[in-house]
Amino acid sequence: MTNAARNGSDMKVRQAHPSDEAAISYICVCTADGGGDARSLYSRLDLPGLIWAVPYLHFNPAHCFVLERDNSVVGYIVTAADTRAYEQWQHARWWPQVNEGLRDFTPETEADQNFLDALAQNQQPAPDYADQYPAHLHINLLPEAQGGGFGQKLMHAALDQLRADGVSGIHLGVNRNNVRAIGFYKAMGFEQVADEGAPIFARAL
Ligand SMILES: CC(C)(COP(=O)(O)OP(=O)(O)OC[C@H]1O[C@@H](n2cnc3c(N)ncnc32)[C@H](O)[C@@H]1OP(=O)(O)O)[C@@H](O)C(=O)NCCC(=O)NCCS
Repeated sequence: MTNAARNGSDMKVRQAHPSDEAAISYICVCTADGGGDARSLYSRLDLPGLIWAVPYLHFNPAHCFVLERDNSVVGYIVTAADTRAYEQWQHARWWPQVNEGLRDFTPETEADQNFLDALAQNQQPAPDYADQYPAHLHINLLPEAQGGGFGQKLMHAALDQLRADGVSGIHLGVNRNNVRAIGFYKAMGFEQVADEGAPIFARAL
């Protein structure tokens, strides 16, 4: 456990707000390489957040939470309660905006290219397990906030809210090399339900 995480008295979980976008996008790229820092891998630091973090804040911030230390955001969990509705919103509202913003973008690194591939992949229809586990999530904490029980607090905040809103189940994808995250998800009651190149974990709510 890091010193900052160990000294957790000044840490607070709160509902996210669209104004948290810059902080969330930054945390995303700092943890986007299988849980490690991906900042040196991308030519634009906002790229991973455009898929895996920022849109959720605009879709429904009531289902997203941040971890704050001294008024500074050091972690987040973003969720979409209904993956199919989220997909429809993305097609109508988010992807056109992202594609416009990337009109003059030329990939310069392998990660840039992987981002473009993931962008295409994310525009595919949601798989069958989204029927049984309609919500999905992404959770990321800066290194100094990891290992102190705050991932667990963020997870409980989001799952409690989704449950209160009548959501029956939730899924997520994880890099198979991210042993820490897999251990964390298992401890949070998730089980592997599919493998799409990356393992898919899910649980009932
Ligand atoms: C994965 C992550 C969200 C976990 O949050 P965290 O605050 O570090 O985890 P917590 O301290 O709340 O751990 C909760 C429980 O998860 C389990 N766990 C945590 N780290 C683990 C590890 N390395 N191996 C196995 N289990 C682990 C433990 O059961 C732990 O409970 P315990 O400490 O009482 O034993 C966080 O480390 C993180 O953001 N990592 C970088 C980004 C990332 O990989 N995100 C996931 C992408 S899919």
